[in-house]
Amino acid sequence: MPLLIRNGEVVTASLRRSADVLCDGESIVDVGPNLAVPAGADVIDAGGKYVFPGFIDPHVHIHLPFMGTSAKDTYTTASRAALVGGTTTLIEMVCPGRSDDPWDAYQLWKGKAAGTSACDYAFHMGVTRFDAATPAVLERVVADGTSSFKVFLAYKGAFGIDDAELYQTLELAQRLGVIVTAHCENAEVVARLQQRLLAEGKTGPEWHEPSRPTAVEAEGVHHLATFAALTGAHVYVVHTSCEEALREAAAARERGMKLWVETVAPYLVLDRSYAEQPAFEGAKYVMSPPLRELRHQDVIWDALASGLISTVATDHAPFDFIGQKEMGRGDFTKIPNGIPSVENRVQLLYTYGVARGRLDLLRFVEVASTQAAELFGLAPRKGTIAPGADADLVVWDPSFRGVISATTQEMNVDYSAFEGWPIEGRADLVTVRGRIQVRDGKFVGDTTHGRYLPRKPTH
Ligand code: URP
Ligand code: ZN
Ligand code: ZN
Repeated sequence: MPLLIRNGEVVTASLRRSADVLCDGESIVDVGPNLAVPAGADVIDAGGKYVFPGFIDPHVHIHLPFMGTSAKDTYTTASRAALVGGTTTLIEMVCPGRSDDPWDAYQLWKGKAAGTSACDYAFHMGVTRFDAATPAVLERVVADGTSSFKVFLAYKGAFGIDDAELYQTLELAQRLGVIVTAHCENAEVVARLQQRLLAEGKTGPEWHEPSRPTAVEAEGVHHLATFAALTGAHVYVVHTSCEEALREAAAARERGMKLWVETVAPYLVLDRSYAEQPAFEGAKYVMSPPLRELRHQDVIWDALASGLISTVATDHAPFDFIGQKEMGRGDFTKIPNGIPSVENRVQLLYTYGVARGRLDLLRFVEVASTQAAELFGLAPRKGTIAPGADADLVVWDPSFRGVISATTQEMNVDYSAFEGWPIEGRADLVTVRGRIQVRDGKFVGDTTHGRYLPRKPTH
């Protein structure tokens, strides 16, 4: 049945205008004023509302065995959460352990999603070891449509790779024409600082940030940029948290490097003081790189508005407070890292960005959807509203007022890092390839509708 969304203000990364959007099957077929109503069409009135392209979260963890435990969401819970928040496409990190077979890991991650996701999805392939067998496996992964890699310069002894492995991964990525996403922190320095702080009896979550100061992250970005310059690889710095790291990224971009920057929703609205709360409450706010001093927030918002930062993701990594974060009582290095926010990203960005005048609507769409589609080979199918694109649409009610709470969230985790926070605006209606998955802000759809999105190399 055709779907006609009428009378809304259609907003893309380049244009906002009053228009109707006509979808047929899985695609958008027409965008314009006063479109005729096709016979049998489902007509949605979007008067007083925005119509956005489906939002894309280019950095999430769903299946994540990590730090002696495993992240809580399934694809079903994470994708439902994404959709009620307005996100219609997820890009998940495949994170094999160093001793795992990478092809088996890739199949395991794909298998977790297949038939259980309510939204569309793709993967970044984690390269957590590089040996003689790696090039053939990665070529196979790219041929299967996963045309981006992930490396960790952090997490020594877990996902982290050494410099020889980094160099070879970037060389291979360049040959295959795929972009490499990177967690940039100097693993050796973090390990030394952690040991020193613990030896001094500094064991609480408030010591997580001092164990990974901004210089450690800035060095990571510089390190990646150096290796990328030497190999010609295209790189993408994930979850950038601070001014010092941004300066390194800006310098690399000024030298003409193909380097892009992501930040994540928690850094835009939370700061280090949350991880310093007493009674181990701060553990809820432990992620890496860590939440920083408040002064970094303005720098990140400015970098987002100016274009230095291309995308806002979440780095969604859901671990319960009870039983999981608690594993780090008495030793902050054992607190599973991550702040769940796949459900909250778009609302936080709208409330604390657009509604506060820090981000205009076009840039909001660009950083939350369009840039991710372009950087990761999903455009023009995703990230815009145009004939031929997938009918992934968000009808957004800017007059909605509500409050975030763990008691009402779809994410399968026992707390919210934003408990009680007021939010402005809501995804009233969300479609994925023409199918209505969210109505009146509630999931009403099919939890098997999501599809794997194969992508081609981007350069
Ligand atoms: O704290 C974080 N970021 N947890 C998830 C793993 C990662 O580093 O992306
Ligand atoms: Zn990371
Ligand atoms: Zn991550």
